[in-house]
Amino acid sequence: MTLAIYPGSFDPITNGHLDVLERALNIFDRVNLAVANNMEKDAFLSLEEREELVKKVTSSRPQVEVASFDGLLVDFARSQGASVIIRGLRAVSDFEYEFQMSMMNKRLAGDIEMIYMMTGPDHSFVSSSTVKEVARLGGDISSVVPPAVKEELEKKYN
Ligand code: PNS
Repeated sequence: MTLAIYPGSFDPITNGHLDVLERALNIFDRVNLAVANNMEKDAFLSLEEREELVKKVTSSRPQVEVASFDGLLVDFARSQGASVIIRGLRAVSDFEYEFQMSMMNKRLAGDIEMIYMMTGPDHSFVSSSTVKEVARLGGDISSVVPPAVKEELEKKYN
């Protein structure tokens, strides 16, 4: 059985994340989503809210588990028994950050492989930041996030 970890801030999870997840499930037996308690970023949603939403929108998928993590991603991957980490790539602008992260993770844990999946064309422009901005300004985000996320953001911004 091959287990992959799909980490992120998920602030909030979007249809772009779900697209990557669905495609990863075609390759790996199990995919565990890892919600980062990222000290580098000021999250809009609390860790508990982000984790709860991720659980809600993946609840129909028995091959998916959701957990939050602190500290190094590679340590978390090891603690789960995963040898693969998945990340989505939307555009060239994502590349530099992802390249650095991949090289550092490889240096820290040479036995863990990072696999990058191109986000589908329908979602390549979607980011958690733009979703929050549109929601905050009263725009319609129903085509870019699952209904539970739309509901939560609208509740928060109203
Ligand atoms: O959705 P994001 O914010 O782009 O996800 C970034 C994330 C959480 C994957 C990254 O910040 C991370 O791995 N954080 C854990 C800390 C860590 O392992 N840092 C070393 C890698 S450079």
